[in-house]
Amino acid sequence: MVGSESRYQAFLDAVGQDRLRRELTTVAARDARILEAGARAYVNLASNDYLALRFHDALIARACEWAKTYGTGSGASRLAIGNLDLFGCIETKVASLKQKPAALVMASGFQANASVLQALLDRRVLGAESLVFADRLNHASMHFGCKAASVRQLRYRHGDAAHLAELLTQYRADSRPKFILTESVFSMDGDRAPMPEIVALAGAHGATLIVDDAHATGILGEGGRGLSEGADIVVGTFSKALGSFGAYVACSQTVRDYLVNRCSGLIYSTALPPPVLGAIDAGLDLGSGMDQERTHVARLATRFREGAQARGYDTGASTTQIVPVIAGSADAALALSAKLREAGFWATAIRPPTVPQGTARVRFAFTAAHEAADVDRLLDVLGHIAAPQMSKVTSA
Ligand SMILES: Cc1ncc(COP(=O)(O)O)c(C=O)c1O
Repeated sequence: MVGSESRYQAFLDAVGQDRLRRELTTVAARDARILEAGARAYVNLASNDYLALRFHDALIARACEWAKTYGTGSGASRLAIGNLDLFGCIETKVASLKQKPAALVMASGFQANASVLQALLDRRVLGAESLVFADRLNHASMHFGCKAASVRQLRYRHGDAAHLAELLTQYRADSRPKFILTESVFSMDGDRAPMPEIVALAGAHGATLIVDDAHATGILGEGGRGLSEGADIVVGTFSKALGSFGAYVACSQTVRDYLVNRCSGLIYSTALPPPVLGAIDAGLDLGSGMDQERTHVARLATRFREGAQARGYDTGASTTQIVPVIAGSADAALALSAKLREAGFWATAIRPPTVPQGTARVRFAFTAAHEAADVDRLLDVLGHIAAPQMSKVTSA
């Protein structure tokens, strides 16, 4: 075996020993509520398809229509082959949804954060290494973007505006460009950033506020606008509540023009394919009118949170459609997930390094496809599992 292979194997052995090894499990899904694995069907509680749009007739029809009209692939990058007018149409809708002058469609949320942050934090353009104030629990893709730009992050305690204020004050006299990075809704905790306080701090300290609105877009805020109001630059995805794939940046016209010239993820990557653009377009058209579904999902999540807490489970600081049940160790999270699976529920154990050590959890995501009866059955199962040692562990 080549030297590198044995080291990869040693890594796999080590994560296996710590119960942190990940596997790709084969599943099938034919609708938004049920997932099949092996010969069994499960209620799917692991999908970020919060509005249950990925099987919606309108998205499928427009994806098919645009595939037939424009082809299955886009052929090259938007700069190399020319920019299909489909992008302009979607970007106008995104800019309007996010109430920003402009928007730019990107290939995926991960790629957007990785390459947009790299471009925005470019020290050769800014004249200095930026001061980047970042929530400790920001998504891996945001860390990746900062690393790619070779900037050191000043990480504030999760959701703690007072700590952010302290750090900003410490650097008040520093003339380097300042940025604040946060998610609006945190993907593994389902809690919300204190946006009004963060917006005020960004204004008071002359910092550019960049918000990842991935888990709020479509499902939270007025008309599904998300929770990024007051941010200078918003990054988000079409892959969650909006039911398809791809990402966007909503920003000023200058930032958009700059990204077209400097963002490697846009310049060096093939444009999203027309069927995906069709699904995005239909998702945007439908999403703003789905208040009933948004209310339904919020009610389901509240019903679950209250029921789980009443049964002694720790649901952290969740206030959204994402509800973690904190288990503590990786073993405890895997055991809880396995017991739920036996009972017909598919909810995934989330372990370090995705979440901090000691806060492994099972993550529940509620969607418009679920019913109150699903939540009640789930609570019934949790009530019978009764794991008091899990309920005593609190999140860091
Ligand atoms: C906060 C956040 N940002 C970005 C992403 C990446 O988005 P995508 O799945 O479209 O690559 C995710 C999740 O996957 C996320 O949770």
